[in-house]
Amino acid sequence: MKKINIGIIGFGTVGTGTVKILLNQRDLIKKRTGLDLVLKKVADRDLERPRDISLPKELLTKDAWEIIKDPEIDVVVELVGGTTIAKEFILEALRNGKHVVTANKALLAEHGNEIFKEALQRGLKIGFEASVGGGIPIIKVIKEGLVANKMLAIYGIINGTTNFILTKMTYEGIDFQDALREAQTLGYAEADPTLDIEGIDSAHKITILASLAYGIPFSFNSVYCEGITKITAQDIAFAKEFGYKIKLLAITKILDGEIELRVHPTMVPEHYLISKVDGVFNAIYVEGDCVGSTLYYGRGAGSMPTGSAVVADIVDIAKGINTMPVDFSEKYTIKPMQEIESMYYFRFNALDRPGVLSKISGVFGEHNISIASVIQKGRSKAGAVPLVILTHKAKEKDVLRALEEIDKLPVVSDKSVFIRVEGEES
Ligand code: NDP
Ligand code: HSE
Repeated sequence: MKKINIGIIGFGTVGTGTVKILLNQRDLIKKRTGLDLVLKKVADRDLERPRDISLPKELLTKDAWEIIKDPEIDVVVELVGGTTIAKEFILEALRNGKHVVTANKALLAEHGNEIFKEALQRGLKIGFEASVGGGIPIIKVIKEGLVANKMLAIYGIINGTTNFILTKMTYEGIDFQDALREAQTLGYAEADPTLDIEGIDSAHKITILASLAYGIPFSFNSVYCEGITKITAQDIAFAKEFGYKIKLLAITKILDGEIELRVHPTMVPEHYLISKVDGVFNAIYVEGDCVGSTLYYGRGAGSMPTGSAVVADIVDIAKGINTMPVDFSEKYTIKPMQEIESMYYFRFNALDRPGVLSKISGVFGEHNISIASVIQKGRSKAGAVPLVILTHKAKEKDVLRALEEIDKLPVVSDKSVFIRVEGEES
């Protein structure tokens, strides 16, 4: 039976899940694949921290380089995270002739071009299934299952932490910070949770999906990125009144040779399947020209689901299945965000006086923005009340110009809020 020796660097959330799976499912994997996955060494700078699996001392080291230099190790699994030391570990592992598996989307999105080039030149493989969608095999879907398709669009909830937070805010009225703390305790959040809540983690992941889908270089710096920190309980409640849920969507689509690449909170019709994806679950909608619409769903973060994806990559590498793109040099143009078209939700804090709505709608009219529905809540003789407007499709640049004017109107207090809306036009 073919033996594969594995060294893991990083014995944290994902490292622990991977170790558990390698040990507990070893026989199952042997039976299914004819491969014996042998855990040879695990490195972490802190070996004393309690973990819910303990390993014999001889399997542990504080020195990651011991794994990278070990001539008996076939596959190095990088589960440290970040874009500095992790990059050195991966490049050095490749230089030492090792195949690599990583869950590190930040590293691939920002330095993937360099890392894949190194691997290709050396005829080595990099597995990165765990970098997007946790336990959902979405990388395999795009590379293999849908290989015969031109990809037309990908829409995804691809960050478990933010979906968990939005779900807690929507159903349990739990405050943002408390929900984030819970996601951190459960091991969903990044070491720096700003990456999750500001949409950067989703931007990393959509960068990877877009490269696979369109064969383009990793283009993280071109992703438009907005997180969920400005979403309020009030907006969630208004969205519900209009029949929508607020989700952090990562979107890439191609039209007339131009690629959209964006991450932002989005109002999605409540009856859409993706609206029903709650908690840490992720869902990714992929549209191919042959297959049409497809949807993939599962746990997007956490120790065991992510470990499951890591081990799948090790098996693919051992079987000689190509785990990485062979060409991502396609020429491309990213559509500027101001050129995109969407429907929009606006919330103004406006004085409750006759003529206010017509002033605001007048500005919309001047900028080719057509109103679909309006809600005004509460009554106030002196103060401002929320005025909520949904529009038909409009150009982002027109919306930004209109908002600049509306925010200067004396009848509007506070900065206005807007959220992009997906779905059919009413
Ligand atoms: P953790 O912080 O839980 O684990 C990382 C571990 O690596 C920590 O124990 C850390 O130690 C250790 N480490 C850091 N630097 C070194 C070093 N130089 N040498 C040896 N060990 C080191 O992170 P996660 O397991 O959550 O994430 C790992 C990777 O997986 C990241 O790239 C992340 O983005 C990705 N990922 C995470 C998912 C999740 O659900 N958590 C899901 C999908 C991907 P210390 O604590 O002392 O820093
Ligand atoms: N922090 C990430 C998330 C981990 O919440 O989705 C999985 O990539």
